[in-house]
Amino acid sequence: MKKVLPQVVLLFSVITVVTPGFQLRNRNVSDTVPIKPCSLEEYVLKAHCDSQSQSRLICANGLTAQWLKGVRREITHLRLVDWPRECLDVGRLQHHYPELMFLELINSTSLKHFKGRFGGASKIQKITIHGTSVLWEIPPEMVMQMGELREIDLRDNMLRHIKSELLTGPKRLEKAFLGDNSWDCSDGGLDWLAMEPDNGTVRGKIADYYELVCHHQLYRGKPLHKVMDIIRTMLETCPDPCVCTMTHVVADVAGAVIPIITVDCAHRQLDSPPATLPPGTTTLRLEGNKLNTIKAIVDNPHYRKLADLYLDNNSISAVKELEGTEWFSTFRVLSLRGNMLKQIPMYVFDKAFQANNNIMNVYLGNNPWRCDCHYIPRFQSLLLKYHRVIRDIADIRCSKSNDKKTSLAQISTIPLGHICSDDVELPISPINIVNLVLLALIIIVVGRFIYDWHNFKTTGKLPWLSSILP
Ligand SMILES: *[C@@H]1O[C@H](CO)[C@@H](O)[C@H](O)[C@H]1NC(C)=O
Ligand SMILES: *[C@@H]1O[C@H](CO)[C@@H](O)[C@H](O)[C@H]1NC(C)=O
Ligand SMILES: *[C@@H]1O[C@H](CO)[C@@H](O)[C@H](O)[C@H]1NC(C)=O
Ligand SMILES: *[C@@H]1O[C@H](CO)[C@@H](O)[C@H](O)[C@H]1NC(C)=O
Repeated sequence: MKKVLPQVVLLFSVITVVTPGFQLRNRNVSDTVPIKPCSLEEYVLKAHCDSQSQSRLICANGLTAQWLKGVRREITHLRLVDWPRECLDVGRLQHHYPELMFLELINSTSLKHFKGRFGGASKIQKITIHGTSVLWEIPPEMVMQMGELREIDLRDNMLRHIKSELLTGPKRLEKAFLGDNSWDCSDGGLDWLAMEPDNGTVRGKIADYYELVCHHQLYRGKPLHKVMDIIRTMLETCPDPCVCTMTHVVADVAGAVIPIITVDCAHRQLDSPPATLPPGTTTLRLEGNKLNTIKAIVDNPHYRKLADLYLDNNSISAVKELEGTEWFSTFRVLSLRGNMLKQIPMYVFDKAFQANNNIMNVYLGNNPWRCDCHYIPRFQSLLLKYHRVIRDIADIRCSKSNDKKTSLAQISTIPLGHICSDDVELPISPINIVNLVLLALIIIVVGRFIYDWHNFKTTGKLPWLSSILP
């Protein structure tokens, strides 16, 4: 027994010594087979490292095995060029290089995300990342605990988003350079910056704030600080129960950024429209509220620039206030679907539609339209005349009634005979009856005269009437 044990121990140690070598020889060392997710070792064979001085290390295409052994306290500067993977394990980096003060990541076009984080013990003072092309965001968690970080230089990447914690987290951070990125200035991107005060700490840390440019399609090419200013103005002037969004920005000839804002107050139980709108509001959505008049809209000077007005599903019963307003001859979209309209002032609509060059869509469906002979012929011809802009002609129907011929009938196609049928029921009007009676009397008188004249000529007898006259 005593002899067997050492042999077993020996055999065991032979296996353990052989196994790593065995794996290494048989492993197909190609770029496509990862050892494990986000390992630093994967590219050890292709990597090339160059230690320029005691403390300075530059590695291209990964890290070589030599530099991944143990803890390299002497290195304070590390530059990784062309990092070949999607992922970089910064936790491991901190483990191998705990004394690092400067970290540079250059031209790493495959880098997409980071693994791990730099802990509170990190000595790194400056992180530089340049030349990535698929890295959209630096996760704040990666740097938040860093106690010595003073500067982050993120210029010349394709970064889209940044969270405020990236700049507020590291407690010693003084400066960030963010230029030459693809910043998304809209919701969920950099819009949080809009509400930062001008001299606030976060804004103050962005050294090149006034050089930043937005890249998201909506704000493409617009100076970020101007976009932030208009987003802030919009948020500050947005009327209370509503939600304001910038749907577009355009630049005028002078280069000024002009916002295009949508104010959404739909389904807010409003019985009057908001008193003010952010400057640049072009679309106002007021569907599903309790408005019963549009007076407050057409009278309000804040609404003058409004192009698209959605008033579906309210309780509006008249729109005569539109008459003579400037708005009605300049608007683009007006939706009055699902209201209580029985009739509209047709000459006002006709006049405005003719004068209005912006008009695109008008919706009038699902209203209880008046259907009588007095109103319908003119309304029908208005609908047909402007069928190109009145988009829901099939829904413009007579109100529900007991009259089978007109109840819910589509007004643009209703035969006028169905509407004006009161006249058709009596075949002859009273005045014509009088005429017919007169005609009959004339025929009788003339007939009697001819008969008498003929009788006189043939018999010489005077008519009865002449014979009794004196
Ligand atoms: C290694 O991979 C290459 C191509 O990826 C393949 O041609 C070769 O057969 C592989 N070798 C082994 C030992 O798997
Ligand atoms: C990074 O790439 C750019 C353009 O391809 C090149 O000009 C620059 O020298 C590269 N930087 C490094 C450190 O390799
Ligand atoms: C910073 O902003 C505050 C208000 O937010 C203002 O009172 C103060 O004057 C500003 N300081 C500078 C230097 O602009
Ligand atoms: C208006 O109300 C109708 C019926 O309740 C509904 O189908 C429609 O979606 C509503 N329209 C809007 C714009 O809210």
